[in-house]
Amino acid sequence: MAHWSPQDLPRLDNRCAIVTGANSGLGYYTARALAAAGAEVILACRNAERGEAARAKLAAELPQARLQLQTLDLADLDSVAAFAQSIAAEREAIDILCNNAGVMALPLRRTAQGFEMQIGTNHLGHFALTGRLLPLLNAAPAGRIVNTASLAHRMTRGMDLDDLNWKHKRYARWDAYGKSKLANLLFTFELERRLRSHGQTAIAVAAHPGYAATHLQAAGPEMSGSRLSLLAMNAANAIFAQSAEQGAEPQIYAAAMPEVRGGDYWGPDGLRELRGHPRRVRGRRAAYDTDVSARLWDVSESLTGVAYLG
Ligand SMILES: NC(=O)c1ccc[n+]([C@@H]2O[C@H](COP(=O)([O-])OP(=O)(O)OC[C@H]3O[C@@H](n4cnc5c(N)ncnc54)[C@H](OP(=O)(O)O)[C@@H]3O)[C@@H](O)[C@H]2O)c1
Repeated sequence: MAHWSPQDLPRLDNRCAIVTGANSGLGYYTARALAAAGAEVILACRNAERGEAARAKLAAELPQARLQLQTLDLADLDSVAAFAQSIAAEREAIDILCNNAGVMALPLRRTAQGFEMQIGTNHLGHFALTGRLLPLLNAAPAGRIVNTASLAHRMTRGMDLDDLNWKHKRYARWDAYGKSKLANLLFTFELERRLRSHGQTAIAVAAHPGYAATHLQAAGPEMSGSRLSLLAMNAANAIFAQSAEQGAEPQIYAAAMPEVRGGDYWGPDGLRELRGHPRRVRGRRAAYDTDVSARLWDVSESLTGVAYLG
């Protein structure tokens, strides 16, 4: 049987999608697939030059594509608010929000509001963005929020909700990444529960790419100036990783295939979910802990100042 590919997407001609981090890696291929299927795609990128380079490349590959570039820095809640405001000023509905952007295993850095950079970008920025765009997502006939998680959500012992921002313990970059990705799943499932209990129409789903060669693996070593780690990451990518294009498949599937249900989690079907084509997967048990997800929601609201579905 032929494997699913983004060419099997239904037509998305009247839809509008936002993809965060659309200038690189999985986000680029997600934007490309949605645009190729006819959706208007808003490329939400933190760096205007890199965003414009991606927009121009996409436009050259897909001359019919409807693309718009807009600046969004998830590590600054003022930028998140300004982005959402300008979207709301221009349109009445958003069909698909791909919360894709992310950073991995950075040395300790802080966002504009002082959050640890990984939880701040990967979770808190997207939590605030989703809350601000929710009225538009609910105004679409079948709005969808897709959060990009990771196998790395299994790498941590669990959330530390009393110290989400690593102020009171020694920083551990990989554990911080694992926690931010566990937060992506807890947020997805809690959001889905709240959407249903509030009788809203949008659904929330998660996806992960397995292991895909992107710039993600280089960002940490580049920032800490470790040439050895950079070489090791590049070698591991060359040997073990699938392409960014294939890694994007589960989130493309989750964003637009009709059989996707709220609360689903999609990942690759190969050995240990490291590579392959989209299928439904399960997170570890801690990702479905409703007590932790409800408390994470409260902490996220109070840190970001964006409260919704309460
Ligand atoms: N690659 C994998 O094997 C893998 C595995 C599991 C999960 N993931 C997840 O997949 C997602 C996409 O990562 P990728 O692998 O495609 O990596 P990537 O090539 O490094 O792309 C990450 C994107 O996020 C953007 N970004 C980072 N910080 C941002 C901020 N503060 N505001 C707005 N955008 C920001 C980056 O922008 P710049 O280009 O300006 O830096 C870039 O566009 C991430 O959530 C990651 O955790 C990836």
